[in-house]
Amino acid sequence: MFYRLPYYSYKLQIESKRVQYRKYLERAGVIDALSKALIKLYEEQNKPDDAIRFVRKFMCESCPDDTQFDAMKADLEEANKTISKLEQDLERLKDQIKKSPEEIAELLEEGFKKLVEDEEHTGSLLRKYLTREILDEYLKLTTPPPVEASLLDCIQSGLTFHNSSCGVYAADVESYEMFNKLFDPVIRDYHGQLETDKEQLQPEAEFGNPDEIENMDPEKKYILSTRIRVARNIEGFPFFMKLREKQFLEIEEKVKASTDSFDGELAGAYHSLKDISPETQEEMVKRHILFRRGDEYLQAAGCYRFWPVGRGIFYNPAETFLIWVNEEDHLRIISMAKCGDLGDVYNRLIKGLTELEKTITFMRHPLYGNVTVCPTNLGTTMRVSVHIRLPLLSRDQDRLNGMAAELNLQIRGTGGEHTAIEDGIMDVSNRKRLGVTEFELIKTLQEGILTLIKAEQELEAKE
Ligand code: ADP
Ligand code: ARG
Repeated sequence: MFYRLPYYSYKLQIESKRVQYRKYLERAGVIDALSKALIKLYEEQNKPDDAIRFVRKFMCESCPDDTQFDAMKADLEEANKTISKLEQDLERLKDQIKKSPEEIAELLEEGFKKLVEDEEHTGSLLRKYLTREILDEYLKLTTPPPVEASLLDCIQSGLTFHNSSCGVYAADVESYEMFNKLFDPVIRDYHGQLETDKEQLQPEAEFGNPDEIENMDPEKKYILSTRIRVARNIEGFPFFMKLREKQFLEIEEKVKASTDSFDGELAGAYHSLKDISPETQEEMVKRHILFRRGDEYLQAAGCYRFWPVGRGIFYNPAETFLIWVNEEDHLRIISMAKCGDLGDVYNRLIKGLTELEKTITFMRHPLYGNVTVCPTNLGTTMRVSVHIRLPLLSRDQDRLNGMAAELNLQIRGTGGEHTAIEDGIMDVSNRKRLGVTEFELIKTLQEGILTLIKAEQELEAKE
């Protein structure tokens, strides 16, 4: 009886919220207006196919008629095209204006001052590790030509958004060396590596035997889908904030050429973003297979320059093997399935990666392994995630978060990074990606997910 108490008080709380909400709807006349619209629809002899439009029209006195609506839609599409063309023109112009070293130094000084004076947002790794001395040393340094990335290119996002968790992105592979006194502690902190450990942090790639990895939920009770993504960047190109327009296209061409010969379950087609209508893009985002232009941290760093030039997606008809081109990293290679069969997903990822490596040379760093734009992704670059339903565990957020921290897991909403958890369904993945082999990472993640499922089952047994 005792353990049921919190559940009933929770139910009572919801009931009282419902009553309050109903009263509010009545007071505001919403119930009355909706009832009238539904009665009108009921009385209508010829029931319209588009009932929603009928109700909307009934409720809105000054709504445009169908012809006006279509004309407005066409105008909007036209305006959107013009905006995107102007944005691209602006990008091209901005690209021609090079900031002088003095301007860069001034912006760094200003940004640093605001960052350290902000007492409210002190949590970013940038804030933790960017000291006066480091700033002085790097104020006028750049990576070698032709890229010539400055410290500002790397920390613009963290200086703009003090609520960043990391706040730093590399602008090219050389940035990791040139601005090493900032990058190194950030990387070690995020991935939990010791400061004294000056040896290679990322072991050689070791994918192990995927047959040893199991289906984590054969009865399909908890796991809705499983996804593994890795990031890869192509040797000889800088990262998004320093890529020229034609380089975005060159990267796209390389992926197109490489994937052209894929066969079996990997066979698919490449689609440039510019050839996918906005409606289809939105549907694909909802199906969890496509990225969207919307991350403000990436925006501040310059990720959406020349958008949608050179951006696109390769995928097989089953939508289980995908490659994102020029989103955050040059390539994001993704394997996914609508179940908990981690072994199958892992196997396909290895196959795809092996094929790509036959024709494209990817960057590797002697200390950090595979190189990515964001220090949080270095090493294996792997994020193994499940969309999982844990309704009972998620009632106790403190316990869930505590377990996640202990198991080194990260919890996100199912809409992707920076989205909220809804209806007890969440995205659970590994937090760290560096310092372990791919195989070790997969096995640890598998153990973590099985532990969460077990805890949920124990709560079910008590209910
Ligand atoms: P990342 O690409 O770094 O993993 P996000 O968290 O933003 O970053 O996820 C990208 C997309 O992948 C989102 O649309 C998200 O819903 C989808 N996604 C992530 N994990 C899964 C999963 N296990 N099943 C289905 N979709 C997923
Ligand atoms: N720059 C952002 C921050 O520091 C995101 C970091 C991790 N996410 C990513 N997509 N790289 O909060």
